[in-house]
Amino acid sequence: MIQKTPPMGWNSWNTFGEKISETTVKEAANALVSTGLKDAGYTYLVIDDTWALRERDKNGKLVPDPAKFPNGIRAVSDYVHGKGMKLGIYSCVGTMTCAQYPGSYEYEFEDAGTFAEWGVDFLKYDYCFKPAFEKGELLYRRMGLALANCGRDILFSACSWGNDDTKSWIKTTGAHMWRSTHDVMDSWESVRMRAKEQFDLQKYNGRGCFNDMDMLVVGMNGKGNVGLTPGTFVQYRTHFALWALLGSPLMIGCDIRSADSGIIDLLKNPGVIAINQDEAYCQPFLIGGFRNFAVGVDEDRFCFARFLGNGDIAIGMFNLSDEPGNLFFHLSELGLSRICGRKLVMTEVFSGEVSESRAGQYTALIDKHDCRLFRCRLERD
Ligand code: GLA
Repeated sequence: MIQKTPPMGWNSWNTFGEKISETTVKEAANALVSTGLKDAGYTYLVIDDTWALRERDKNGKLVPDPAKFPNGIRAVSDYVHGKGMKLGIYSCVGTMTCAQYPGSYEYEFEDAGTFAEWGVDFLKYDYCFKPAFEKGELLYRRMGLALANCGRDILFSACSWGNDDTKSWIKTTGAHMWRSTHDVMDSWESVRMRAKEQFDLQKYNGRGCFNDMDMLVVGMNGKGNVGLTPGTFVQYRTHFALWALLGSPLMIGCDIRSADSGIIDLLKNPGVIAINQDEAYCQPFLIGGFRNFAVGVDEDRFCFARFLGNGDIAIGMFNLSDEPGNLFFHLSELGLSRICGRKLVMTEVFSGEVSESRAGQYTALIDKHDCRLFRCRLERD
């Protein structure tokens, strides 16, 4: 299968951790439908770690924990498919998963066959308990091959956190997305830190295999399995805009059964989703920001741009610092020279405000932790 745009969905880990069950997955499926998130594009529902028993059966097959999944995984996939969505599951390259359930090491073909038999559409494949003498790239290739031969389209989501120079080999494995960060926790500091690690990785991002900046913590409000410090709405909006503009898969992590309408509307924002899901998928590039040419990019105040398939340009101006500041970029950095006879008609995606910019510099005063996300159209001037 070919993955043209970053996958979108919901993953159980951030909120539920080990407390995952058939009931919670079904409730999450219902909530995706009733909130309109499914119709907005969030169609993969992923069961993360801890779904299995600690031991395989006598034939070496993985066994869903009957206390959590009394009717097995097939019943869940039937339910999710019945709602027009797809089911994801989790395993690991090592002998055990990160939470110490059985991993797929030396069972790759067997497990890929099992997942196909259960009607699974997505596999998140983690990196814990890898035997030290084995090369990670070889183990991801093994599972990539097993999935490609299992008789079902299964999206391959690699999760080696960028370790062992993942970026240099991941596209040999058949993976459709790869974790380019360590885990994001629900705190502004974690979001800020993870985002800044992505600057140099954009050249590896793109169609077919997307840089995965980890599940969204938008709307977690300090609760659940990775809840730390509740974020403000502005912080969650900046986090969402960044992940979307940088072409990360958008995997919701909050408890969508109880999320408030402001958060649901944020996650459904059609302008943001259209930028994330743009099929041309040109790589994002850094422009302007708060650049001090003596020291290079200010990593807390920066702007990214991305060319879109219809000729528009998406531009994000991000102030991750703790002070308000004037951020800027030059139109020349986008390819618009002083004599090109074109102006930018800029629609700010969250506020709907429209402004125009001509040759020269565009500057905006942006509050701490806030952002502006624009969709810009070129017009003759
Ligand atoms: C790792 C992954 C997380 C989650 C846990 C489950 O930490 O990076 O996203 O899947 O394992 O144990």
